[in-house]
Amino acid sequence: MSNTSIRIGQLCVASLLVLVSSCGKPPAQASAGPPIKAVATLEEVMHGMVIPSAQTVWGASGTIYTAKGVEERMPKSEDEWILVEASAVTLTEAGNLLMMEGRAKDTGRWMDRARALREAGAEVHKAAKAKNVAALFEKGGNLFDACQGCHFDYRYEKDPKVIRSH
Ligand code: HEC
Repeated sequence: MSNTSIRIGQLCVASLLVLVSSCGKPPAQASAGPPIKAVATLEEVMHGMVIPSAQTVWGASGTIYTAKGVEERMPKSEDEWILVEASAVTLTEAGNLLMMEGRAKDTGRWMDRARALREAGAEVHKAAKAKNVAALFEKGGNLFDACQGCHFDYRYEKDPKVIRSH
């Protein structure tokens, strides 16, 4: 036998041993199930993540007319911009969370509505990173449309008396 075939033979024995020894052990996390799991309810995601983040975004731009005059709203410090960015990230990822089994109401239109939130959130994020107040206002409007789109399909029909604020 040549040196090479001895080595190949040794290799085969070694890999057989690995196979045999791994057969004896239960596969890692066999009973853990899928790694991700929806824990918070849909309402909790709305109240804990979506609503406060959207309020931060909407509060960061626009024009307010008061008795004292006209106020053009915009983030006034680095920290305020960072807060808008973080809120946009939360909204973007909330779109993904809404798609998870246990929260998604179906696998068709619901997914499109959740994707619209994710995309609107990502656009707001871009505007905030660029510190572009006009874009922040415009993309904030698209965000509102994304909320409304899903609510018209899945929220108001459940309770037609609900105040259609957002
Ligand atoms: C993919 C669907 C979807 C998207 C997108 C969505 N929502 Fe909702 N939202 C719902 C549903 C469904 C309910 C009703 C939950 C329930 O009552 O079980 C709801 C409820 C709410 C409520 C009422 C909560 C309550 O206590 O009654 C508010 C406020 C709200 N959403 C705000 C928003 C805002 C703001 C956005 C966008 C930034 C948004 N939602 C995006 C599906 C969505």
